[in-house]
Amino acid sequence: MKLPEYWDWVAEHSFHLRQPNPSITDIYYRKLVLTLINQLGSGNWRRILKLDAYNEATNTQYGLYFIKDGGDLILVDISYGIARKALVKAAEKRLSHRIHLIVADFRRMPLRPECVDMSCSFGSIEHVPEYSLAFYEQVRVVREGGEVFVGVPNLLNFSLRALSAKILHIMGLMTRMTNPERHFLGSQLISLARSLNLDDIALTGYHLFPKQLRWLDLWMAYRGVDTLKRSRLFRWLLKTFTLMELKYSFARVFAEMIIVKGVKRWGRGTALRSLSGEAIDIDQQPQST
Ligand SMILES: C[S@@+](CC[C@H](N)C(=O)[O-])C[C@H]1O[C@@H](n2cnc3c(N)ncnc32)[C@H](O)[C@@H]1O
Repeated sequence: MKLPEYWDWVAEHSFHLRQPNPSITDIYYRKLVLTLINQLGSGNWRRILKLDAYNEATNTQYGLYFIKDGGDLILVDISYGIARKALVKAAEKRLSHRIHLIVADFRRMPLRPECVDMSCSFGSIEHVPEYSLAFYEQVRVVREGGEVFVGVPNLLNFSLRALSAKILHIMGLMTRMTNPERHFLGSQLISLARSLNLDDIALTGYHLFPKQLRWLDLWMAYRGVDTLKRSRLFRWLLKTFTLMELKYSFARVFAEMIIVKGVKRWGRGTALRSLSGEAIDIDQQPQST
């Protein structure tokens, strides 16, 4: 199945995308991402590009919260089905006039260079083998001095995210939710950012709460069962992991996701030309996987 068809199929079949209300972890996860972006970034953005519209189609909705107080959000997703769900959620929040949905491949975005102030992705580029192309595209479209954020799954996650996802894929339990994802080391993510000539590079992690419990929470929320929401132990665990993550930066090394932030300083024109030839795998044609 080709990528657009696969993700359109996911849009129809994923329990996550059909979950009616935010689960308790959705709320914590969103707050953590908003806090992180506030801490790492300048916040001085009028036009934001976010890769994939999945979060906005579900109940985490990071992008919709980024523009709560103003600005425009451009979402690029290969699936019309997922994009349409994101638009419905944006309309519920009366934000549709500030959301610009583009159904396209994020490895070749139909956007002019330097057209946004900030670009971000949270668990997107690892879904394609040419993840470095997607990263390059995120940098290409950001203006000089603008910020780029790329979050990917962490190979060093203490709750063994990579192994758990692999097992679930082998068992065929993940196909309706997502395709196999690559996991990264912090050093790999930093190398990628350096290869794209980003400046002021910073790396951290987010979402320390065990992924297995997050999946369970989403599954229960979809089924309309509020056992976990009412469980004092579950709430205590969620709070404790969240506080640890906020208080101890060291703990974030082992979080579910790692994120790199960098500032684009290519110098007008020249660096753009040279980097488009040099970016890793740049000559590879995007493949459907
Ligand atoms: C599993 S979801 C992303 C999960 C989400 N970012 C998160 O952290 O929960 C993958 C999303 O990326 C989109 N996607 C996958 N490959 C793509 C590509 N090559 N170009 C654009 N969108 C793509 C899919 O349609 C889907 O919305």
